[in-house]
Amino acid sequence: MIAIATASQKGGVGKTTLCVNLAYCLAKRGWSVLLVDTDPQGGVGLSLSRSSRSKQGYYDFLCETKTYAQTVLRTRLPGLSLLPAGQFDACSRRGWVAARVPGRLQDLLREAELDGVDCVIFDTAAGLNGMTETVLKASDYAILPQQAEPLAVRSVPHLLETLARYRAEGASVTVAGLLLTLVMEDAAVSRKVVDELRDMLPASLLFPEDIPRRPIFLDASAHGVPVALCTRVPPPEAALFERLAAEVEERTGLRLRQTLPTPHASLLD
Ligand SMILES: Nc1ncnc2c1ncn2[C@@H]1O[C@H](COP(=O)(O)OP(=O)(O)OP(=O)(O)O)[C@@H](O)[C@H]1O
Ligand SMILES: [Mg+2]
Repeated sequence: MIAIATASQKGGVGKTTLCVNLAYCLAKRGWSVLLVDTDPQGGVGLSLSRSSRSKQGYYDFLCETKTYAQTVLRTRLPGLSLLPAGQFDACSRRGWVAARVPGRLQDLLREAELDGVDCVIFDTAAGLNGMTETVLKASDYAILPQQAEPLAVRSVPHLLETLARYRAEGASVTVAGLLLTLVMEDAAVSRKVVDELRDMLPASLLFPEDIPRRPIFLDASAHGVPVALCTRVPPPEAALFERLAAEVEERTGLRLRQTLPTPHASLLD
């Protein structure tokens, strides 16, 4: 099993959008995926599941008031499970023991593995400290969505230094890639940032495709669904995330973990 966390210094860069769409596409491709919302504001659209009214989740598991089985929600898509953020306020009122979180996160990963999960995806709150730092340090890979804006050229090196420091402190988290998001295809300033970042960084560090700024993503997150479920026939933007999922499989070695024999399904009897 592998654990992937998203992270960004700034808010609103598309972490949750990435997590929901990547988790959906990986599950569609046949993996068993657990999407975990570690953002106390609970960014992940709960309408991914019918039974999502339940408010128990990640923070309740961390506080040991609820078990894995009591908090993980199965979605309508086989292979995709969701651990919503849960009751952050109630947990912090009871007294938050930060020192116990890393151990509890390991418990969560162990339980997920026993549950047959191939890939855990952690959505995180903006910023690289507190819970997000702990989650990154417990993960195998980080995907770093980065808004294509002029500030990015200065903030990316800092972000990469922070990840390098985590590794120096003993964490094994590796950058799977930087994902340029909210690219305004018609704006010269946005395209210039993309070009500068692609010149500045090794190609292996950037995902080959960027995520453009398009209204359908707003629509999808307003409804709490992956873009593929916005319309009866998936829109072209859904294919972007399908290709990203295939790229993530390569970059994380997930594809090599396929243990079942390939079923050569026939289209006809
Ligand atoms: N490619 C895109 N095009 C247009 N809108 C987008 C795109 N990606 C995300 N958005 C919109 O921008 C807003 C922020 O996106 P999202 O919630 O994914 O960011 P985030 O990084 O998770 O934010 P936060 O740091 O607050 O958790 C949402 O309303 C979302 O619909
Ligand atoms: Mg978010």
